[in-house]
Amino acid sequence: MAELRTQVGIVGAGPAGLLLAHLLHLNGIDSVIVENRSREYVIDRVRAGVLEQGTVDLLHAMGVGAELQRRGLRHEGVYISFNGRRHRIDMTELSGGKAITVYGQNEVVRDLIDARIGTGRPLYFNAQGVEVAALESSQPVVRFSHDGCAHQVHCDFVAGCDGFHGVCRPSIPDGVLSIYERTYPFGWLGILAEAAPSSDELVYTYHDRGFALFSMRSTSVTRLYLQVPPDEPIENWSDERIWDELLRRMTTSDGWKPNVGPILQKSVTPMRSFVAAPMRNGRLFLAGDAAHIVPPTGAKGLNLAAADVVVLARAVKAFYETGSTNWLESYSSICLRRVWKAQRFSWWMTTLLHRLPDENEFDHQRQLADLDYLTTSRAAMTSLAEQYVGLPWEVPLESVVLSRGA
Ligand code: APR
Ligand code: PHB
Repeated sequence: MAELRTQVGIVGAGPAGLLLAHLLHLNGIDSVIVENRSREYVIDRVRAGVLEQGTVDLLHAMGVGAELQRRGLRHEGVYISFNGRRHRIDMTELSGGKAITVYGQNEVVRDLIDARIGTGRPLYFNAQGVEVAALESSQPVVRFSHDGCAHQVHCDFVAGCDGFHGVCRPSIPDGVLSIYERTYPFGWLGILAEAAPSSDELVYTYHDRGFALFSMRSTSVTRLYLQVPPDEPIENWSDERIWDELLRRMTTSDGWKPNVGPILQKSVTPMRSFVAAPMRNGRLFLAGDAAHIVPPTGAKGLNLAAADVVVLARAVKAFYETGSTNWLESYSSICLRRVWKAQRFSWWMTTLLHRLPDENEFDHQRQLADLDYLTTSRAAMTSLAEQYVGLPWEVPLESVVLSRGA
C-alpha cells in the first residue's frame, strides 16, 4: 500500500477539481487529484460552452487564459426568438460592460490539466475503487488503486469535486443532507455540426413544436439543441430528421436559419434541478455538480462550479494562514446563496422557453406574454443580462489569486 500525505485531497478532475487544485497551488497549498476516468475521456466529454465574465476573469487571473484569449468567442448580446422573430438583448450595454465568452468546457479542462501537469503536483487518472473515509476526523483519507497498487492519501481536507454520480456525496451519513430536486418532462438532443455559425450570437428559440437553441464552439463548428421527450432514444433521430426539426423550429420570417453541415456528434441529455445542503460534512467539502445540478438552459453549471471553488480556496487559504475556521464554517451558506439564485435563473429560463406536455392554452398565452415582456421591457432585459453574464462573486478574486494577466 502506498501511503501519501497532502493538504487537500481532491476527488474528480472536472472543472471544479482542476480549478480548485490550481487555485490552491497558486497559494502554495498542496493537493492530490484522484480521477476515475482517463485523461482522454475527461477532455473529450462534450459539455456546455458558455463562460460568465467572472469565470473568464478568474481563468486569466490564474494565468491559464492564453488559449481562451486566442480562441474564445466574446459575445455581447443574445437573441430570444419567438413567433418567427429574433429579438436581440444587448447584455454588455445592460450589464455595465460585461459579456459572456463561448469556449467549450472540454477546452477549459484541457487547459487546466496542462496547467496542473506543469506544476508537477500529483494527478491520478484511471483510479479504481475510489473511496473517502474518516471525514469527521482531523485526517480524512482518500483511498484508490492505481496501476494495480493500493493508495491511501492522508489529508487535512477532502474536496468532493466528483460530479453528480461521484462517491463523495453518497459517503455522507444518512440524515445529514437535505435534498431539493425537480426533474423536467423533457430533455435536450444536442449536436455538434461542421458548419460555420450563421449568427455571431446565441439564439434561444421558443416554438410551438418545442424549444431549440443555436450555439457554437468555434468559427467552423455549430452547436445546436432541440427539446425532445426525456428518455428519447437517439436512434429515433436520423441526421436528416434532426436538421428538418431544427430548421422548422429555428427559421425566422426574415429567412435566418442555421447553416447545415455534417453532424459530428449527437446525444440526448435529461434535465434536472438538484441541490444537496449543506455542502459540507466534517472535513469533506462538496463543490460543483457533486452538490448541485442545473438544467442547461442558461449554461450555469461550470460557472457555479467555479464560484464554489473560489470560496473553498479562500476558506482553505484562511485556515493555513491564520488557523481560522470561520471561512470553512461559512463555506456552505456562502455558496448556497449563489446556487439558489442560479437554480432560480436556470429554472426560469427553462420554463420560459420550453413547451410542457400538460400545458393548456392559458399557459401558452402566458408564456408568450412573458417573452413579449422580456424582449420589450428594459427592466426585464437588464435582469436577464445581469444574471446571464454572471452575478458578482461572493469573494473578491484578489483574495485568492494575484492577477497574472492573459
Ligand atoms: N472517483 C474519482 N473521480 C470521479 C468519480 C469517482 N468515484 N466519479 C466521478 N468522477 C469524476 C468524473 O469522471 C469527472 O471527471 O469527477 C469529475 C466530475 O466532473 P464534472 O462532472 O465535470 O463536474 P464539475 O467539475 O463539478 O463541473 C461542473 O460539469 O456537468 C458539468 O454542466 C456541468 O458544467 C458543469 C460542470
Ligand atoms: C452550449 O453552447 O452548449 C450552450 C449554450 C447556452 C446554453 C446551454 C448550452 O444555455
